[in-house]
Amino acid sequence: MRKWSRAMRSQGKTVGLVPTMGYLHEGHLSLIKESHNRTNLTVVSIYVNPGQFSPSEDLSTYPSDFHGDLLKLKSLPQRVDVVFHPYNLYDYNNNNNNNNKSVVIGNAIRKGENETVSSCVEETEAGHETWVRVERLEKGMCGKSRPVFFRGVATVVAKLFNIVEPDVAVFGKKDYQQLRVIQRMVRDLDFSIEVIGSEIMRDSDGLALSSRNVHLKPEEREKALSISRSLFWAKSAAQKGQINCKELRELVIKEINGAGGRIDYVEVVNQESLEAVDKINSPVVICVAVRFGTVRLIDNMEINV
Ligand code: PAJ
Repeated sequence: MRKWSRAMRSQGKTVGLVPTMGYLHEGHLSLIKESHNRTNLTVVSIYVNPGQFSPSEDLSTYPSDFHGDLLKLKSLPQRVDVVFHPYNLYDYNNNNNNNNKSVVIGNAIRKGENETVSSCVEETEAGHETWVRVERLEKGMCGKSRPVFFRGVATVVAKLFNIVEPDVAVFGKKDYQQLRVIQRMVRDLDFSIEVIGSEIMRDSDGLALSSRNVHLKPEEREKALSISRSLFWAKSAAQKGQINCKELRELVIKEINGAGGRIDYVEVVNQESLEAVDKINSPVVICVAVRFGTVRLIDNMEINV
């Protein structure tokens, strides 16, 4: 992968990277379009990263369809130059052994005083033990209920950046906190990569596209529309002068609770720092995480009034 990328860049070509976990949908494809508009060549990585899942999360049921993904990429009007599909990015002793299918659970990190949490990557002498942590940004919102998540994301993205050596990397604003974590990592660790945030793609009924939507039962999907509906209402209320964030939060919470969603968080935060704000006097984003049935969905709405 690196050899190809270096050869291309030495010919003066620019390389764009779109990191994904596969089961591609229009949201992913819009990132590819964005990369294509900005660079000569585009690499799409497909890798379900065990490092960002805790043992209690949905790694084993995360949907995948590599063959289907390849067909989707082939049918795109924009050319994808490389699909990078590593087998295991943490198994340094078994580079050529594709039979090792185990995912080992271990690697405790401290959550609170006496509480430990783990990811699905083992930390051993022979294995992996280096992690990238964006200490403040990883803590709030999704970081509260998923304490290993952003550490796993930042680490695998740093690894992908070092392997692919792209000029540009494209991420979706759908995962807003993830985008800000990556941008901060790139700044703080001097990666020479431009990180682009691309707009959220939604189904025609408003639901933000996500690989996890496939697990929603039809009635849950219907109820989950309360998320985008309430976010659009809140945006329009803010545009009409409602700048009190408590009121905006309550509007969203009421609508989602009314539909039976189990709210993880609803927060109105500064777009850059992700710190909670009381009044809208700078660009904010309302971020939401909700469970419908067993499916955890996230969505957000930027408000620039
Ligand atoms: P994944 O969930 O597959 O998403 C890959 C990229 O697609 C992310 O940048 C995400 O924000 C973007 N994306 C997903 N749904 C979108 C939508 N509806 N509109 C626009 N963009 C959307 O995010 C990950 O994978 C992983 O954490 C990864 C960055 C690959 C690291 O493992």
